[in-house]
Amino acid sequence: MRAFSFLLLLPLIGSSLARRGGGNFTFERLDVNDTALLVIDLQVGLIPLVRDYQPDEFRTNILAHAAIGNVFNLPTVLSSTSETGPNGPLVPEVVAMHPTAPYIKRQGEINAWDDPDFRAAVRATGKNQIVLAGITTDVCATFLALSLRQEGYTVFVNAGASGAASAVIAEDAKARMRDAGVYVVSSYAIVADLIRTWANTEFSTKVVGWDFAYWTLRGFMVDAHAAAILNGTLIPGELNGGI
Ligand SMILES: *[C@@H]1O[C@H](CO)[C@@H](O)[C@H](O)[C@H]1NC(C)=O
Ligand SMILES: *[C@@H]1O[C@H](CO)[C@@H](O)[C@H](O)[C@H]1NC(C)=O
Ligand SMILES: *[C@@H]1O[C@H](CO)[C@@H](O)[C@H](O)[C@H]1NC(C)=O
Repeated sequence: MRAFSFLLLLPLIGSSLARRGGGNFTFERLDVNDTALLVIDLQVGLIPLVRDYQPDEFRTNILAHAAIGNVFNLPTVLSSTSETGPNGPLVPEVVAMHPTAPYIKRQGEINAWDDPDFRAAVRATGKNQIVLAGITTDVCATFLALSLRQEGYTVFVNAGASGAASAVIAEDAKARMRDAGVYVVSSYAIVADLIRTWANTEFSTKVVGWDFAYWTLRGFMVDAHAAAILNGTLIPGELNGGI
């Protein structure tokens, strides 16, 4: 009887949430002060397994991912597995970007979380929100993302910097991660959430530099805007959509 009357109340609870304009959705946003960046198994020998991006695009994406740590001064952890075998070392430019970051060379563990040194390095960041990218999406990125969710972390996977053997495999892996509450996002969604506002002058200059280096479209947009301001003139019909 008691359970029954509670059930009767449920629609009332729901409608009072709706009246507040609320519902029970929580928009989890990246907080620059609570975020750590993980670079997982972006190893030269694994890159040929990536078939859902073209090599040049993928290279740009993984450098963009690694660079986010420096733009926002995020604690960053690098990790690879079985480097001396076919996987090879991490992409050298990525390592060069983070000379002082912990670099955990796992002795074969496929899920980075299975390595106690890696777990210790992540815990030592003291952060609750994790941004990660890994090769492959379905194995290295997914296994770690699910372990981190189980540990209670909020996890954002940079989809552009994670690669799989096919687009279908990548989509299945992303669905599996989303089912576990992982956010699958773009580099730019990460950057925009971390900076929050273009008025954030602590990071805005570095973000424009990041655009020039890794997000070519916005780099050209900024170039065009600067050229227009420095030496631009309106052509006939340009104002107000040609009206
Ligand atoms: C609250 O969340 C649950 C489970 O995620 C969902 O089934 C339910 O519809 C949500 N209620 C409201 C009011 O949004
Ligand atoms: C992060 O910390 C700085 C310095 O304490 C503060 O100004 C900023 O508002 C914080 N950012 C967020 C998103 O909480
Ligand atoms: C500015 O534009 C004019 C007209 O197109 C051009 O002659 C001049 O060289 C430009 N100056 C600079 C600094 O780009």
